[in-house]
Amino acid sequence: MIDTYATFANDCFADRTVLITGAASGMGLETARAFASKGAEVVMCDCDEDGLQHHSAEIRKTGANIHAVTVDVSDESSIKRAFDYCDENLSRLDNVVTCAAIITAKRLFDQDWAHWQRVHAVNLFGTFFTVQAAAKRMLVNPFGGNIVCIASDAGVHGGGGLIADTAYAASKAGTLSLVKSVARELAGKNVRINALNPGPTDSPMHSHIDQSLKERIAANLPIRRMGRPDDMAAAILFLCSDAASFVYGAALDADGGSMFR
Ligand SMILES: NC(=O)c1ccc[n+]([C@@H]2O[C@H](COP(=O)([O-])OP(=O)(O)OC[C@H]3O[C@@H](n4cnc5c(N)ncnc54)[C@H](O)[C@@H]3O)[C@@H](O)[C@H]2O)c1
Repeated sequence: MIDTYATFANDCFADRTVLITGAASGMGLETARAFASKGAEVVMCDCDEDGLQHHSAEIRKTGANIHAVTVDVSDESSIKRAFDYCDENLSRLDNVVTCAAIITAKRLFDQDWAHWQRVHAVNLFGTFFTVQAAAKRMLVNPFGGNIVCIASDAGVHGGGGLIADTAYAASKAGTLSLVKSVARELAGKNVRINALNPGPTDSPMHSHIDQSLKERIAANLPIRRMGRPDDMAAAILFLCSDAASFVYGAALDADGGSMFR
């Protein structure tokens, strides 16, 4: 079996901290495991309290320093409480990864105002207020900081309603623009912000998709498989590592070549 993270030294995030939203499932959870395995102190945030408690306990058993904070990223005050927790319990905040999101797959005429509000509240507003709170801490961190926002290939190419709809794709396009805009504002301040565009990834987010559709998605990708959460966690480790110290305001596609399907 391949160790996706073997490229990274085991102590490459020792003495470093990371806060991850959406950490109770899929890519966020795998990213928590990856950072923990490389020595980081990890703050796992999610609105799924049971999943958060279960998985944080599982990672803690490896000896890693893990915090679990229940957060609803669609609620600004909830995000504020999570960052207050970090102020009280961490020496400083070095890395923030925004994975929390909901996916929706409604056809054009089935998407109403409430639907757009909900999708944007979680995926776009939640990302913005997490980034804002992160940047505030990192600007006074002598080590600066790294922010990685998980967008989507749907934010680049659009979503057709079958797997991801217009509201979802627009929220992810907004996330890409958010990253570029914040990158402009933070120029010269020792805080890097980048986006990651995952392609179709086999995670609990797609639990509603049946196996035959997954196989068709995989067959259409040049790489001939769906992504795995560890593919994304490896890309996130890279973006937060010193190896990416010249990568700034970028959007990294980790999508199996989905634009060529
Ligand atoms: N899976 C894919 O194919 C795919 C493709 C492109 C982009 N993405 C993006 O990658 C990221 C991770 O997706 P995943 O596949 O791991 O999904 P997932 O559903 O497995 O995990 C998402 C997590 O976000 C949490 N969450 C949802 N709403 C929240 C809220 N209001 N507050 C706090 N937490 C909340 C969920 O509880 C869950 O634990 C998302 O931003 C998603 O849009 C996924």
